[in-house]
Amino acid sequence: MVVVVKQLPTAAGQGALPSPHRRQRVVGSVSCVRAPGRGHLGRLTTLPARALLHAGRQRWMDIIDLTAPHEELYCQCLEDWSADIREAGDHKRVWYAKMRDRGLRVKLAVDDAGEVGGMIQYVPIQYAPASGKDLFFINCIWVHGHQQGRGNFQKRGMGRALLEAAEDDARSLDAKGVAAWGLWLPFWMKASWFKKRGYKKADRQSIQVLVWKPFSADAEPPKWIRQRRKPPRVPGKVAITAYLNGWCPVMNLTYERAKRAAAEFGDRVHFETIDTFDRKTFADWGISDGVYVDGKSIQAGPPPSYEKIRDLIARRVRRLR
Ligand SMILES: CC(C)(COP(=O)(O)OP(=O)(O)OC[C@H]1O[C@@H](n2cnc3c(N)ncnc32)[C@H](O)[C@@H]1OP(=O)(O)O)[C@@H](O)C(=O)NCCC(=O)NCCS
Repeated sequence: MVVVVKQLPTAAGQGALPSPHRRQRVVGSVSCVRAPGRGHLGRLTTLPARALLHAGRQRWMDIIDLTAPHEELYCQCLEDWSADIREAGDHKRVWYAKMRDRGLRVKLAVDDAGEVGGMIQYVPIQYAPASGKDLFFINCIWVHGHQQGRGNFQKRGMGRALLEAAEDDARSLDAKGVAAWGLWLPFWMKASWFKKRGYKKADRQSIQVLVWKPFSADAEPPKWIRQRRKPPRVPGKVAITAYLNGWCPVMNLTYERAKRAAAEFGDRVHFETIDTFDRKTFADWGISDGVYVDGKSIQAGPPPSYEKIRDLIARRVRRLR
């Protein structure tokens, strides 16, 4: 299904504000979302007044399903320009190859110049770090916000269009609702962004909020699957336990850096990979992703640099007898 979001121009007299994106183009003057494949106008969605006001110009935007030509870009989180992403290994590709046949859905937002600016991916909740019934779980929505590479596509309605397309898709697949994760802190994936779009808190674990939007009265709220075991210590060695699901290049990057740094210390470090794509293994630990050094997580936000991880391991190694 292709959903086209047509954003019509603002009222006459409102001058166009400068756009952060180099390829914007004026094309119209109302806001609607339609599904051309159905041969009729689909749901009409009016963008918030502020969005129209800020838009200052009309753009076309397509929401498309992921197909082969964009698979590599998707596996790189649209950051084909980034050296960090290349450092993250091929775990995302491996994950994608497995999840393709397990109900993974991916949609991309394409601007009027044909540039992919955003993506959303969601999975049946039985593949998520949360438990629930008949729900989809959005493990990632990302509208490219860096100036590098393809540029900044945020704050022009791509996020909203992606989310609405995913919700429509989940409904058409008879899901009873959609869940998503967000941080209650105002950075990275903000839970508040979902809350503004009608999502409610279902559960919270540390800074991670599980939000959801039920579609039917009999939908049951999801819950986080909580940590069940502690990453082990290893007598006489620094123990690094790396939980890897593969879905997120940011987590994959930390994993790759930690593995490489650990190798610098030879047999003074015990490095163990736990493959949490395996559902039984995940259920056993209750940890989906993360690197732990002597039982402590090394990442609370963006991936730590290679040097930072190596220094942290070196400090632990110095304490060994
Ligand atoms: C959250 C996110 C998806 C939102 O995407 P987006 O395309 O910027 O979202 P939208 O444009 O639909 O909405 C964002 C805001 O811009 C406003 N907006 C929408 N269209 C606009 C336009 N044409 N001009 C200006 N503002 C606009 C919206 O009103 C909204 O404002 P509000 O949230 O203050 O109410 C995006 O910011 C993002 O990717 N953040 C990082 C998330 C992340 O880390 N993902 C990885 C997790 S694994």
